[in-house]
Amino acid sequence: MASKATMEHTEQAISVHKDPDILAAAARMAGEDLCSVADLSSAEVRAILKLGHEVKRNPREYRHALDAKQMVLMFEKASLRTRLAFETGINTMGGNAIFVDQTNAPLGERETIADVARNLERWVDVIVLRTYAHDTITEMAANSRVPVINALSDFEHPCQALADFMALEEHFGSVAGLNFTYVGDGNNVCHSLMLTGAQLGANVTVATPRGYSPDIEIVTIAREMAQAQGCEIRLLQDPQAAAEGADAIYTDVCVSMGMEHESTKRAPIFRPFQVNEALMSKAKSSAVFMHCLPARRNEEVTDAVIDSPQSIVFDQAENRLHAQKALMLLLLGGLANVSKFSVSAEQ
Ligand code: CP
Ligand code: NVA
Repeated sequence: MASKATMEHTEQAISVHKDPDILAAAARMAGEDLCSVADLSSAEVRAILKLGHEVKRNPREYRHALDAKQMVLMFEKASLRTRLAFETGINTMGGNAIFVDQTNAPLGERETIADVARNLERWVDVIVLRTYAHDTITEMAANSRVPVINALSDFEHPCQALADFMALEEHFGSVAGLNFTYVGDGNNVCHSLMLTGAQLGANVTVATPRGYSPDIEIVTIAREMAQAQGCEIRLLQDPQAAAEGADAIYTDVCVSMGMEHESTKRAPIFRPFQVNEALMSKAKSSAVFMHCLPARRNEEVTDAVIDSPQSIVFDQAENRLHAQKALMLLLLGGLANVSKFSVSAEQ
């Protein structure tokens, strides 16, 4: 017998080109930026994930959707998943990616960010940025006529959170009412997970050491979203209490890129927040373990947990591709080139 999740996916496969969330998102998001998950409505988050599942099922139908579209990726920090998911994603939809390594030349140093934007928009169709300062991304977006996508800043990592909730939907069918627990540093990945979880109706619990809690602006926005979606956001400092009854336990490195000088200080502070078998045992027996990767094995998570059958970290990594393809399709108007969507528009 088909599982609930499989049946839902089959229904989506039949009607995706008529899905009101996807059609509305395609109309609203074309030409827009994605700097923060807060830029997206709940319906738009749902639409990206629905389209992500669809693209994952039927990749061939999208292979000309972005014909000749040019993407530039300018990264001030290292990347494996984000870069490769964008590059393979646009290449498999007919477009092209140009990677510019900014690790030794921060954006804004050689010329103003506004002037970089005014050049790039003359040549490319989309700008993908990985930066230290979040303002670099919003400033590029404010000065560019082509979409700008946040591929991670110190403040947010929207592409990661979209792929993560796509993986949770695959595993659980729906994430509404799911008890999602994040343990660790309350920074970029945590922020985007809080916002995405709230928009999808998941109960998000965050446990951080004192002094490492999420930004108050994100907490406020996430709580407003959660109220509208009938779920809740909890902030704790006790990882054991946060893990109690969880459906998913997520962690990230304790020392993010750019914070390496704090490694020695942070190690003892984050040690009680390690996700190990004892912490996982507080969660439901059906709980999954999640991590954005790269992982510092046996620091924030033990080998026993990340390599266990409960771990879905490589499903998350795989879904970076499909979620980012969906995002590109919506921001670049690519559905107009996909026959089942264009047929639907003529009806
Ligand atoms: N999770 C993630 O963004 O991985 P990369 O840093 O390798 O892109
Ligand atoms: N918080 C981590 C995420 C890496 C994908 C960092 O910013 O380095």
